[in-house]
Amino acid sequence: MTMKMLEIKEKVAIITGATSGIGKSVAETLSREGAHLIINGRDLVRGHELTDKLSAEAHFVAGDIKHPEINRQLVEEAQKRFGRLDMLVLSAGQLGIGKIDALSLEEWHDTLATNLHAVFYLLKYGIPAMQKSGGGRIVIIGSVAAFHAFPNHPAYTASKGALLPLVRQVAQDYGPEIRINLVCPAQVKTPLLDNSVNAFDNPAEILDKTAQRLPLKRLGTPEDIANAVVYLLSDAASWVTGSHFVIDGGFLAT
Ligand SMILES: NC(=O)c1ccc[n+]([C@@H]2O[C@H](COP(=O)([O-])OP(=O)(O)OC[C@H]3O[C@@H](n4cnc5c(N)ncnc54)[C@H](OP(=O)(O)O)[C@@H]3O)[C@@H](O)[C@H]2O)c1
Repeated sequence: MTMKMLEIKEKVAIITGATSGIGKSVAETLSREGAHLIINGRDLVRGHELTDKLSAEAHFVAGDIKHPEINRQLVEEAQKRFGRLDMLVLSAGQLGIGKIDALSLEEWHDTLATNLHAVFYLLKYGIPAMQKSGGGRIVIIGSVAAFHAFPNHPAYTASKGALLPLVRQVAQDYGPEIRINLVCPAQVKTPLLDNSVNAFDNPAEILDKTAQRLPLKRLGTPEDIANAVVYLLSDAASWVTGSHFVIDGGFLAT
């Protein structure tokens, strides 16, 4: 990237959802820019494969972010390994598919716990650590589901919808030390999107039709979203906080 990025070099970031898709692409991009990383996911193999290939120092902390302790551990690991914390990228998420009458209580709670409660935990432990380091930048991965209902996704839309007021609240309460923004993608080609259509007989056809309905005629890539995340973390976005960025190939314009 050619934009003003140097200030990311040797800064310390925690990235959740880094074992796959968007979070993985953010980890690769930040690492190329010289950031030191603490990355999280549940899959041990994919986590260690990623840290092995990243260019800058990175440590994998495996665990389920639904547990507050894992979020506390991520922050402690950043402080122990690097002595500071500068950035949080919260990309972990799950779909929780099913209409309200068919959705189990467990699935509802599980989806809210991953997509919303875990965000609260990492903000709660991460913000004081970033304040100690002189300030910080946060990007949360939301979804266009905050603005558009998809069939059978009530837990997902509710959890993603709650992120925008939360981001505004944090911007209000912690500026100017902390900048925080929400990135809202539409359909991005990752395992999460594949899982959302795999139950149908013709998943490839559905994805192709989805892409063709977009003004830009293609699905997003994890890199499309990582570029926006890195911009928001960089000094190029130094007057941007409490905001949301729809990166959607034109989905909401149609
Ligand atoms: N792809 C899309 O079309 C799309 C559109 C809009 C928004 N988003 C949002 O983008 C974010 C990233 O999704 P993606 O598309 O990159 O999906 P993905 O490729 O399936 O990756 C999801 C990541 O979240 C992690 N994760 C999920 N639940 C977790 C838990 N309880 N504890 C720890 N880690 C957990 C997974 O880790 P493990 O695999 O190691 O368990 C994985 O690294 C999500 O918040 C999603 O809602 C995606």
